[in-house]
Amino acid sequence: EQIEKGGYEHFMLKEIYEQPRAILDTFRGRLLSNEAIIKMAGIEDNMKRFLAADRIIIVACGTSWHAGLVAEYIFEDLARIPVEVEYASEFRYRNPVISEKDVVIAISQSGETADTLAAIKLARSKGAFVFGVCNVVGSSIARETDAGAYTHAGPEIGVASTKAFTTQITVLTLIALRLARAKGTISSSEFRQHLIELETIPNKVEEALQSDEAIKVIADIYKDSKNCLYLGRGFNFPVALEGALKLKEISYIHAEGYPAAEMKHGPIALIDEQMPVVVIATKTEHYEKVVSNIQEIKSRKGKIIGIVTKGDVSVRELADHVIEVPDTLESLSPLLTTIPLQLLSYHIAVMLGKNVDQPRNLAKSVTVE
Ligand code: G6P
Repeated sequence: EQIEKGGYEHFMLKEIYEQPRAILDTFRGRLLSNEAIIKMAGIEDNMKRFLAADRIIIVACGTSWHAGLVAEYIFEDLARIPVEVEYASEFRYRNPVISEKDVVIAISQSGETADTLAAIKLARSKGAFVFGVCNVVGSSIARETDAGAYTHAGPEIGVASTKAFTTQITVLTLIALRLARAKGTISSSEFRQHLIELETIPNKVEEALQSDEAIKVIADIYKDSKNCLYLGRGFNFPVALEGALKLKEISYIHAEGYPAAEMKHGPIALIDEQMPVVVIATKTEHYEKVVSNIQEIKSRKGKIIGIVTKGDVSVRELADHVIEVPDTLESLSPLLTTIPLQLLSYHIAVMLGKNVDQPRNLAKSVTVE
């Protein structure tokens, strides 16, 4: 096992550090920026189905569901296709309205999650076209879907999903861009700009990983917190959910993710000097609004950990701590903002002496209901 961990203390840390390579492996051979094309057989072969769809329904569980939420923002923004993201466990029992005109995308690291598998069977029985995004080659979901695209994350051993999440987002981004091009919803220059920027992401993830030591210091300060709030907007709202899930899963600290602007409808009541609030406040269209959310937290004495774009000034003035990530296109920013949140939960769990790779009550793949 020590050999498999490749010198890292835990699989989770190894897998966090593998992300630059995993993301690169996932777009390698599919993203051809010189020719300005995206090549994905599963999409090309079924382009008619995708283009005829009035909407896309994404079904998944856990972290994969969060990747689906990120994809909702990306698909709608780039390809202008309405997207609904469903917990597979709810979808399968809801008597959902679904027909042969629908395209369903099922996302699953393991390809074995029982609820996701059942949702796929239901959708196919109603005539929908089902596309799988799985990591495990030859898994049940990969076999039960009409077509699909694998993430090339390599084996993920840590129960808390890390590299599977960022590679799922990578595949879904490629699909959204390919469909956007086919539909003409983005210009060729915007398309090319996205391809070029996506190619820089592995190096930028590498750079984001360099905050590891600084994050350890922050983890030490907040490790004894009883609660933690994660806030984000737009593309980074699902990242806030995922950050909170990571902390819950491995440190057993209660954490909630919320859209930053929803804070005033409830969570703001929880904020006092005991409450760390992780705010994803990278440079985006809504940056000023997030800054004012941060002011609201500060005036209630909450402790602010800001995830900011390199060189940020405004949040730095207000926050107790900032962690920088490199600048990128807003639609690609979840691939970077996720990294410090993974490291924060990892270090807190290690400091609390928890079993990081095999947290209590959780399983890597949930093959029963
Ligand atoms: C379990 C795992 C999670 C995972 C979820 C969905 O709860 O602990 O890490 O996100 O299942 O798994 P899947 O393999 O379908 O992505």
